[in-house]
Amino acid sequence: MTDKNIYNGPNRVFSGVQPSGDLHLGNYLGALKKFVKLQDEMECIYCIVDLHAITVWQDPKKLAQQTRHIAAAYLASGVDPSKAIVYNQSSVRAHSELAWYFNCIARIGWLNRMTQFKDKAGKNSEKMSVGLYNYPVLQAADILAFKATHVPVGEDQKQHLELTRDIAAKFNHDFSSPNFFPLCEPLIEGPGARVMSLRNGTEKMSKSDPSDNSRINLTDDADKISKKIRKAKTDAGAIPLSLDEIEGRPEVKNLVGIYSALSGKSDQDVLLEYAGKGFGIFKSALADLAVSKIHPITELMNRYLSDPEELNRILSTAADRASEISDPIVAEVRKIIGFSGV
Ligand code: AMP
Ligand code: TRP
Repeated sequence: MTDKNIYNGPNRVFSGVQPSGDLHLGNYLGALKKFVKLQDEMECIYCIVDLHAITVWQDPKKLAQQTRHIAAAYLASGVDPSKAIVYNQSSVRAHSELAWYFNCIARIGWLNRMTQFKDKAGKNSEKMSVGLYNYPVLQAADILAFKATHVPVGEDQKQHLELTRDIAAKFNHDFSSPNFFPLCEPLIEGPGARVMSLRNGTEKMSKSDPSDNSRINLTDDADKISKKIRKAKTDAGAIPLSLDEIEGRPEVKNLVGIYSALSGKSDQDVLLEYAGKGFGIFKSALADLAVSKIHPITELMNRYLSDPEELNRILSTAADRASEISDPIVAEVRKIIGFSGV
């Protein structure tokens, strides 16, 4: 689909994280850390996407708590509710309504190409929920219900954002409203866009990996973080001096990447500092660094979680604000589609 973006509305950031388990270092570096930086640059809307979470089974007794858990992680990472809108998706009706309209815009062939569905469904695609298949359509609705122009995510979301652009472009084209929806820009670049598993440098760090040693959770204590880093898979070589030499050594590349993302140094500077040294020394420095960055977040998260009323208040005020922005956009969509409005 041709992508000519002639939208000239205001810049706005939207992103979301699913409340489907503990957050890990990949979520922090690929998403949360970027959220914090952006809140001083543009209007930001950060959602806890519970409608997406239920595309696979979620225990109803745990869902609200998991949602608060993600909200606490946002806030503890530095997202400021007086600057950014932080709310849960199911409280704002625009998401579901727009998702239906987009189901009638998106083509089955487009969804058939989504690699994340194929990865999640594996050989069992016939047994998956229709919601899991439609997941990227709901994601497009999240973004476009706010006419968001910028979307900070990790690299795994690239294809979903391309689909969002295709849906926006087809809607604009089919209804002869060429600048109604923006064609959003993914914000993926930067260190931490793809943090890999500590057990296998060719697989991404993920909530769903059965091995807890494969990831560092934001709830892990100092001892656990150090142990996981010490146990992280490496190879028999030493730390090399040049970037070329870490190509083809995925585990080394990943640990160096994590170090640089946490420290703010470039990969090259990290190599200069540790070249020729063994992994024992490097891992011990990395563990100290990771603990120093994650421990304060864990502490703050626990403080937010100990006051559920306050968290609920923040989420509910923000949900009202999110509805104020998205309701008029969805009302315009209804008019464009041609509903009678009675
Ligand atoms: P999820 O946990 O799938 O809801 O992802 C929430 C956010 O974290 C999304 O922006 C993802 O792209 C990002 N993310 C998830 N896993 C990783 C990873 N291993 N490396 C970098 N970013 C990630
Ligand atoms: N699919 C995203 C993930 O798993 C979460 C998400 C849902 C999202 N809606 C979004 C991310 C809108 C960015 C924008 O990581």
